Amino acid sequence: MTDLFHDAPFRNPSLSIEDRVADLLPRATLEELAWQVVQVAAGRPALPVHQEWAAKGVGSVLFVGGEELAALQATAAKTRLGIPLLAGIDAIHGHTLWAGATVYPTQLGLAAGWDTEAVKAVGRATAIEMVSTGLHWTFSPTLCRPRDLRWGRTGETFGEDQLLIAEMGAAMIAGYQGDRLDAPTSVAACPKHFIAYGDTVGGRDASECELSERTIRARYLRPFQVAVDAGAQTIMCAYQTVDGVAMSENHRWLTEILKGELRFEGLVVTDWECATRMVQQVKSAEDLDRAVVRCLKGGTDLFMAEPEAPAAILRQLAAGTLTRGDLERAAARVLAVKFRLGLFERPLVVGKPEDVLQAPAHRDLAHRTALGALTLLRNRDQLLPLEPRARRRIALIGPYADDPVVQAGDWNLGYKANQDLHRNRAHPRANSSTIRDGLERRLAAEGAVITYARGCGGVPMVPAHHHVPERRAQVTDDPAGEAHPERLAAAVRAAEAADLVVLVVGDPPDWDGEFCSTAHLRLPENQQRLYEAVRATGTPLVVILLCSKPLAIPEITDGAEALLVAFRPGQATGDAVAAVLCGDAEPLGRLPISFPRHVGQLPVAYDFHPASHGKVYVDDATLGYDRPLFAFGEGLGYERLRLVQPTLQHQNLPADTDQAVTLTVENPGIRTSSTVVQVYARLPVGPVSRPNRWLAAWARVTVEPGQRQSITIPIPRSRLAICDADGAWRLPPGAIEILVGTSSRDQDLQVLKGTVAQ
Ligand code: NOJ
Repeated sequence: MTDLFHDAPFRNPSLSIEDRVADLLPRATLEELAWQVVQVAAGRPALPVHQEWAAKGVGSVLFVGGEELAALQATAAKTRLGIPLLAGIDAIHGHTLWAGATVYPTQLGLAAGWDTEAVKAVGRATAIEMVSTGLHWTFSPTLCRPRDLRWGRTGETFGEDQLLIAEMGAAMIAGYQGDRLDAPTSVAACPKHFIAYGDTVGGRDASECELSERTIRARYLRPFQVAVDAGAQTIMCAYQTVDGVAMSENHRWLTEILKGELRFEGLVVTDWECATRMVQQVKSAEDLDRAVVRCLKGGTDLFMAEPEAPAAILRQLAAGTLTRGDLERAAARVLAVKFRLGLFERPLVVGKPEDVLQAPAHRDLAHRTALGALTLLRNRDQLLPLEPRARRRIALIGPYADDPVVQAGDWNLGYKANQDLHRNRAHPRANSSTIRDGLERRLAAEGAVITYARGCGGVPMVPAHHHVPERRAQVTDDPAGEAHPERLAAAVRAAEAADLVVLVVGDPPDWDGEFCSTAHLRLPENQQRLYEAVRATGTPLVVILLCSKPLAIPEITDGAEALLVAFRPGQATGDAVAAVLCGDAEPLGRLPISFPRHVGQLPVAYDFHPASHGKVYVDDATLGYDRPLFAFGEGLGYERLRLVQPTLQHQNLPADTDQAVTLTVENPGIRTSSTVVQVYARLPVGPVSRPNRWLAAWARVTVEPGQRQSITIPIPRSRLAICDADGAWRLPPGAIEILVGTSSRDQDLQVLKGTVAQ
């Protein structure tokens, strides 16, 4: 720590954040302020460059932790003002880019569990692991809502419903940020990507979003309001343009709506090189100089991965297009977050990662949340759970049945591009259970014979990402992506000799994530052929779809006796799958997103607007606009629970009052079982076009065999409102319907008719 300002008020933790910021700002030179609003990326290039940046007083770094980060913090502490670095990383579902950290399901997998407490616990455990490595800022959660499932980042989201997104997001933020931001295990959250990044044209990553302000308010803004209210310290703006204006310079959305109307007091960080993108892709600025001016005036506070930005800012200050006030406005927000996190008091904390990574409680949580990421969608003749005699000879087939990396999902060591960025580190193999590990472990004592055949490689048939050609080499293990005759033959032999086939297929990593939007929602051709060959043997078939996002493969999902969707469930995938197959646990997942029959059916979501001319495409009547293959909320347990006598608390909802539903859940079966009771709302008549139903509340209920349980599910009044023509949320008086059931499908819902009083 520098001696110069030892006694300055900004160093005094008993003063208010405002006073400390107000004291520090005028002491900073223009150059110091210009560096404070910039973040630089580690990993590449090498560390000495970072030391130079740290010596200049750069505000933030990303992708560096541990002793390397401690060295940078030491340099920052020796600068004239001694302002600590804000150190961020994509700790997206666990501290996943740190070797040895606990890896939970991806966000889509977490959302399938519908369990906000578990998600909060994941946030807490992640924060504890992060701070042990010196990091105190995670670029998470993602609050995007995917519209076109071809979008490569669909698996990074909490699915297709904005209430589920908002509640999951708030839980995760609460977990990350803890009870007090300045507590030693708290990290700052960064909800992203503001706004409507999941609704770009054609599902093309970072392209144009062509929606009106009202539509964005109706579909995408609420989760961010909830995140701001939950105290999120930072928000990342999206790459794309909204109605023609890049988000990083979007004054309407960043300054007027986010900081003004939503009262967001934290910092807005751009996404990666967004200012440069404005010059090179969006072409809204001639050069970086003009881009940084437009960003700072628009509402950006911190430039991600833009080491050239300070020089550009200084030139524009000299030219008079930027003022010290413009710069101070942004720097004040960066500094306030640092003060709130307590970084001035303890910037150099690097603990003992070995004490907390893979802590027993974290491993248990990884297992519990993996069960939530497993959604059972078909179970013909109650094939699952497997009777002991059905599991004596199992053929375990598929390229991902024994792959600890693919099951762990994106933003993970070893998962495509992250490989080079994170210097080829990997998670220890022993931390993960693959499906092969899980089944072999679980069934060893029974003397079951498990024959494992990979069947084909995990290769995509089409090279995915032209910027990173080396990725293909990493995943290619069938020559030219062809189905390999020998491998296929071995799989067929194994299937023929078995009582049961467990086939594990899914989309490859190169078809998942940023830059990875897909034209189709199919399996790679070699996996498709593997399915056909195995199915032709006639051996009963359980398909485990280890996928990043919904796929449109009805011949497979309809063709298997049992279908378990596993949205990349993380390190505990194998043990969780084995427990579910053998009946030690129920699959807890309910779909947080619909599955289409065909890519031509997109967009397909449960809350469609019903006013179209007809409801099917005329050249294929199976492709109903309102008939996904599997609907939002669907998922089976091992018993069929009954929802009895749902009743509205208020038949005529009085003004300023919340609604509630009471009901009884009965378990007529022989096992303890749970379900997610889902409550939807709809307005028979309303002044604007609106979803035909929307999720208003839910509760998981677990009931012992032969027992019944009564529950009351509160429905906050605000969740019944619709987004009016002027973009404001209102609940009009008159008729309202509340739908209660076990999925969003008509046949699973009971309709309660009520009214809203004047
Ligand atoms: C780009 C991604 O869009 C964003 O989600 C991520 O947090 C940043 N890069 C940092 O890795």
